Amino acid sequence: MSMHSPIGIFDSGLGGLTVCRAIEAAFPGEDLIYVGDTARVPYGVKTAETVTRYSEEICDFLLQQGVKAIVVACNTASALALPKLKGKYSLPLLGVLEPGVEAALRSCRDGQVGVIGTEATIRSESYPQALQRRSPQIKVFSQACPLFVPLVEEGWIDHPVTRTVAEIYLGPWKNLEVDSVILGCTHYPLLKSVLQQTLGSEVVWVDSALETAKSLGDLLRNQNLLNPRDQGGSRQYYATDAPQKMQVLAQSFLGHSLGEVEVIHLN
Ligand code: DGL
Repeated sequence: MSMHSPIGIFDSGLGGLTVCRAIEAAFPGEDLIYVGDTARVPYGVKTAETVTRYSEEICDFLLQQGVKAIVVACNTASALALPKLKGKYSLPLLGVLEPGVEAALRSCRDGQVGVIGTEATIRSESYPQALQRRSPQIKVFSQACPLFVPLVEEGWIDHPVTRTVAEIYLGPWKNLEVDSVILGCTHYPLLKSVLQQTLGSEVVWVDSALETAKSLGDLLRNQNLLNPRDQGGSRQYYATDAPQKMQVLAQSFLGHSLGEVEVIHLN
């Protein structure tokens, strides 16, 4: 493994392409390998044991491809599996949780932070624990928003149904002094404008994808693994099922087509 090796990025499906997009924009010279576990999505309703097993299988595949670092682009896998993965693999591994937490603490003015995510992420309490480890007096409000993922995948971004669902999930926060909200799920950055309409424009929406790209840069720089090339990196996309669906939906996630998506079988 060297600075010229590719970076592995994985998610339960195609939502992690928001993280991939942020990494691409920050480091256009890096070679990227993306795996979307489209056969087993969603992870957000599964147990820690299952999500960890799936994540290990993907890490093993990425290691076979010779990656120099792995970005766990899925919030659920970052919350449930990352500590175990870090204990098992010796290469640099970065999740999306810690970068999001750091950014929320920087932007929070009144010591009240909101976290939204999948059921499994919220149930794990990983976000409140990470926030309170760094800032014990911080108050954290958490809300699972399971309907947001299928709504985004249906393409119902700026849609009356999505606005109603957002109102039901987040309406009760209007009376609280929540000034920063962590978008603790790969799909949620795409709903930012609907969420803004619900809670108002004063709230800072912390997009873990952008923060993760910044943290990845620091991590690679510190270990002398940053590719010195500043453009022309290659992209390889893998899915565990339904590559065509990933291609179609990627258009709305990335704003451009993915090209070829290869199917792989993991176990
Ligand atoms: N990628 C997942 C996450 O960020 C959302 C989709 C799923 O439930 O697998 O938590």
